[in-house]
Amino acid sequence: MAAALRAAEWLAPEDERVCHDPFAKDFLGPIFGTIAKSRLLTKIAIWFSERIAPGMVGYIAGRVRYIDDYLEARIDDGIEQLVILGAGYDSRAYRSDKLKGKVKVFEVDHPATQTVKMEKVKKILGSLPDHVVYVPIDFENQKLDERLFESGYDKNLKTLFIWEGVTYYIMPEVVDTTLAFVANNSGEGSSIIFDYVFQSVLDGTCGVAEVNRARKAYERIGTPLTSEHPRFGVEEGTIEGFLSERGFYQVVNITGDNFESAYSKGSTQNKKLWSTVYAMVKP
Ligand SMILES: C[S@@+](CC[C@H](N)C(=O)[O-])C[C@H]1O[C@@H](n2cnc3c(N)ncnc32)[C@H](O)[C@@H]1O
Repeated sequence: MAAALRAAEWLAPEDERVCHDPFAKDFLGPIFGTIAKSRLLTKIAIWFSERIAPGMVGYIAGRVRYIDDYLEARIDDGIEQLVILGAGYDSRAYRSDKLKGKVKVFEVDHPATQTVKMEKVKKILGSLPDHVVYVPIDFENQKLDERLFESGYDKNLKTLFIWEGVTYYIMPEVVDTTLAFVANNSGEGSSIIFDYVFQSVLDGTCGVAEVNRARKAYERIGTPLTSEHPRFGVEEGTIEGFLSERGFYQVVNITGDNFESAYSKGSTQNKKLWSTVYAMVKP
């Protein structure tokens, strides 16, 4: 669905696009793939999505662009490795020319998702690119450190970790061990960027009727559609302390409704419930 929303954004006129992911449409399955071929069907699908979760489409486009811009800045800053945790159909490794030949990319993901992606990448590009290392892992049962070190990850290099659209599906203790890995196993000047939901979304106290309806609907229909269930959130206003306790500093947190205009379009409702944050690993 995240790739479908990026594909929809790519279909919009160039001057209206918030993010730019020309590969997203090539990753889609038959249903979303058919919708993404038509501007009209896409508009209907977006209208429908906005009815269920107002602001979601705009938030995801903004988040993608925000992380893209942060990645560009870190590449200019000399990162040597990029680790994409829960990569899904993230196409940054393939669409950023600045990465190729300079930065080794580790795509870390559940094997069920990654196997499908690798087949699709081979179809799109003809072969798997040399600068990308694929690291299959189930975060819940396997150790990130073991899997990354086996795959050639170097803990002494300046690294950026991107963790987009994933933390909500992970058990809190697994979020902790992942952050501990980043804080203890990365070179000077390393950083992380990720998004998260507020705890109130998870426990149903956020007070936004649509969100509570969507959460209940997801709980009811989630199981046959997906094994991903919301599990992790952070109390609003506490992310700086949360990350400081876990080995990070220079924390910059931006809620969806605070995105600058470059990152923002559509309804702002719902954007209040998510945040994107980046932070440096403490020396
Ligand atoms: C909503 S998708 C986001 C994908 C991508 N980062 C993006 O923004 O398009 C969530 C991703 O988390 C991964 N994921 C969820 N639970 C996981 C787990 N237990 N172990 C490894 N990956 C997991 C899924 O395979 C999927 O790629």
